[in-house]
Amino acid sequence: MTTKTTIYISTFEEDVIKGLSSFPKSLSSKYFYDKKGDLLFQDIMAMPTYYLTNCEYEIIASQKEEISASFQGENGFDLIELGAGDGKKTKVLLKYLSEKGIDFSYLPIDISQNVLDGLKASVQKEIPGIDIKPQQGTYFEVLGDLAHYNDRKKVIMVLGSNIGNLLHPQAIEFLANIREGMNIGDLLFMGFDQKKNPQTILDAYNDKEGITAAFNKNVLHRINNELDANFDVDEFLHWEVYDPETGTAKSYLVSKKEQQVRIDKLELDVQFKAWETIHTEISQKYDDEIVSWLASESGLRIVHQFIDSKGYYKNYLFEKK
Ligand code: AVI
Repeated sequence: MTTKTTIYISTFEEDVIKGLSSFPKSLSSKYFYDKKGDLLFQDIMAMPTYYLTNCEYEIIASQKEEISASFQGENGFDLIELGAGDGKKTKVLLKYLSEKGIDFSYLPIDISQNVLDGLKASVQKEIPGIDIKPQQGTYFEVLGDLAHYNDRKKVIMVLGSNIGNLLHPQAIEFLANIREGMNIGDLLFMGFDQKKNPQTILDAYNDKEGITAAFNKNVLHRINNELDANFDVDEFLHWEVYDPETGTAKSYLVSKKEQQVRIDKLELDVQFKAWETIHTEISQKYDDEIVSWLASESGLRIVHQFIDSKGYYKNYLFEKK
């Protein structure tokens, strides 16, 4: 009698095998984020060269009156945030809505109950009396559940230009999935980093302190720690390029020499030629034409836009077509 053993491998393991066995090699930027990666991303957001955070903060702080007015519905509204993080930008808006006595509930969605617990405690401390209902789960599970939550207006909010880490076809799928959770009259408020002087963009993704480099290399640390690999992280360079024609910033890890890496848990040996690349991230920059095209491909329409004083960043308001 023969026995069949089935080996289950995680998506991370599958993606590492596929990405490092292909030519050219690639690894997804979604694997930058673990405890250390989250901290590095917080450091990035605090860097003056990483202008995205300050620009979006400025838009929300200086235009909160107009933004709030555009959100309001007859019976109030539910503000549903995807990927709230520490909520620094969101709290400015929440504070204003609360102070004005506007009828709304705040429903942050996150996969991590830990993140939600921390956010709830800090929001309640800073904005007493706020109606906050954290929702734990993946974005689309929760959005699906919330589709018929009640019959009042829903405003879905996604800050940080996170959509920029997706290629256009994936971005359309992401927007179309959000649209599925919307009824006619509901809104989507989303941040999109704009095309600008290419040097400003390169400076944002290539700081002298090496924080972005450490963030990029964190994917190799994760493979070392979680899959028993022996990447010598110092033998890889962080490299950033920006194509002003397409608006795509791309991050790479470049092997400084010919080397072999062993990933024990995957029983995989990976060969690198000198100067061979691993593509790790895209950070897409937009203009109105690209955003209108993405919207129309996913069944949405732009109804309003908010821009910062430097013209670096926009938050668009979309409705269902
Ligand atoms: C999360 N995301 C929008 C960031 C970005 O700008 O692409 C991640 C990041 N990568 C390098 N620096 C910041």
